[in-house]
Amino acid sequence: MTENWLTVYKELAPDISGILITPEELQQRVKEIGAAISQDYAGRNPLLVGVLKGVVFFMADLLRAITIPVEVDFIAVSNYSTESRQQGVVRLVKDLESSITDQHVLFVEDVVDTGLTLNYILRNLRARKPASLEVCVLFNKPEHRLVDIPLKYTGFDLPDRFVVGYGLDYREKYRHLPFVGSLKPQVLQGNAKG
Ligand code: IMP
Repeated sequence: MTENWLTVYKELAPDISGILITPEELQQRVKEIGAAISQDYAGRNPLLVGVLKGVVFFMADLLRAITIPVEVDFIAVSNYSTESRQQGVVRLVKDLESSITDQHVLFVEDVVDTGLTLNYILRNLRARKPASLEVCVLFNKPEHRLVDIPLKYTGFDLPDRFVVGYGLDYREKYRHLPFVGSLKPQVLQGNAKG
């Protein structure tokens, strides 16, 4: 099946060194997380909050795997500079549409690496006094973690490798791939952004 996907995406296949997670594995795990959220949040009408753009693929599939009433909203951030990025300082360029005070908020993220970005955003959300604030991350890269963040739901633990697909990009490319793959070293030059 792995070979089949690279045949389907034949224009991008020369950049990809391997498929780490297949579309079937992704869908299966997302269904499991959706079922767990439906059970844990029954009767609480949670608000799922994501950061544009990488999370939209995961969010769309996750929402359809949730069987209880749920709402969704998005924020968008940009990093000030390489230096402030290293300190996890980000600028909010699109805020939530409504107040989250006294709401049960589940923050949904595609990938967590150092945890600095997530830590900054969580501090911002916590200051708005939600009834609860938990984190759901699809791809966890624990090796470079600088801030300890409790993750209520985790999809996959990934090795310390730059991966693309299912929302993850390299220079805005490869987000639309239905699988998660690694890029050939010669493709990986310069900085990536999410
Ligand atoms: P951190 O947790 O603050 O280090 O940063 C996480 C951000 O780095 C994510 O939101 C992504 O934008 C980006 N990122 C980290 N690892 C990857 C990867 O393997 N592929 C694509 N983007 C990544």
